[in-house]
Amino acid sequence: MTDTTAAVDLSAAEAEVDLPPIGSTERYDALMEVIRNRVTVRKFDTNFTVPDEHFDLILEAARHGPSGANAQPWQFVVVRDQDMKQQIADYFVAEQRFRAKAKMKFPTPDYRGLATAPGFVVVCSDMRWINAFPVLNDGSDLDAQYKENAERILLQSVAAATMSAHLAAAALGYCVWWVTAIGQDEAQKAMRPLLGIPDEVSVLDIFLFGPPAQAPYKRWRRPAEEIVHWDQYDRDQFMTEEDLLDWIKTRRHRVMYRDASKID
Ligand SMILES: Cc1cc2nc3c(=O)[nH]c(=O)nc-3n(C[C@H](O)[C@H](O)[C@H](O)COP(=O)(O)O)c2cc1C
Repeated sequence: MTDTTAAVDLSAAEAEVDLPPIGSTERYDALMEVIRNRVTVRKFDTNFTVPDEHFDLILEAARHGPSGANAQPWQFVVVRDQDMKQQIADYFVAEQRFRAKAKMKFPTPDYRGLATAPGFVVVCSDMRWINAFPVLNDGSDLDAQYKENAERILLQSVAAATMSAHLAAAALGYCVWWVTAIGQDEAQKAMRPLLGIPDEVSVLDIFLFGPPAQAPYKRWRRPAEEIVHWDQYDRDQFMTEEDLLDWIKTRRHRVMYRDASKID
């Protein structure tokens, strides 16, 4: 006789999913409230201590993030020790000085603010997780192309979880700061021994949060017409190399450091 019992009992898993009726805006509005009010600050109130429960709540949001192949290729190191925060901040300040000397022309922020963050989480991933995504692993040119995409899948996955954490922090009333200026090999080598991170694991970014030292402000956003395309890519939104370079030269520093009302 054929066994007709399902291989997996889905009812418990299905009961975990609770979606509102399509088109009801209650949850959307609550979510948008959080999204709109997630703002970056680069200096925090040093008198505040983040309770451990808040780290739990925030990283629980990260845990639910989507990821390629559901690999969940992320690790979060919560740094509570002030001396450790200072050592990491010192590294970034040195990087800030290096950039100034190297004349990168990037409007690098003041990284001394890192040491002021009550919430300090180092976001890591083991890049070997790219093997969980479609790759050939035969050393061919085609494999190189797939590997490049696999790396993108990994980075997008970690960013998705990180964003969930940032939104959770904003939902709890915190300002946030997403710092990625640590990709370079030297930065990795400097950071790993401080936190006991294995050589195979990369530090992808640092997630900082806390009450702000000064009132935060909302930064400029491109209007929807500039970024949304319906059915076909609207070539009016295409920027030439010259347009792009001009934007970077004349607008980048303004959109990074001014409030939205001061951007024309
Ligand atoms: C992927 C990513 C990388 C970022 N890297 C840095 C960084 O290295 N240093 C920094 O000061 N801010 C960094 N930021 C913060 C952005 O500058 C900030 O989100 C942006 O200016 C918009 O401001 P808002 O977050 O207040 O909306 C990063 C943000 C993202 C999403």
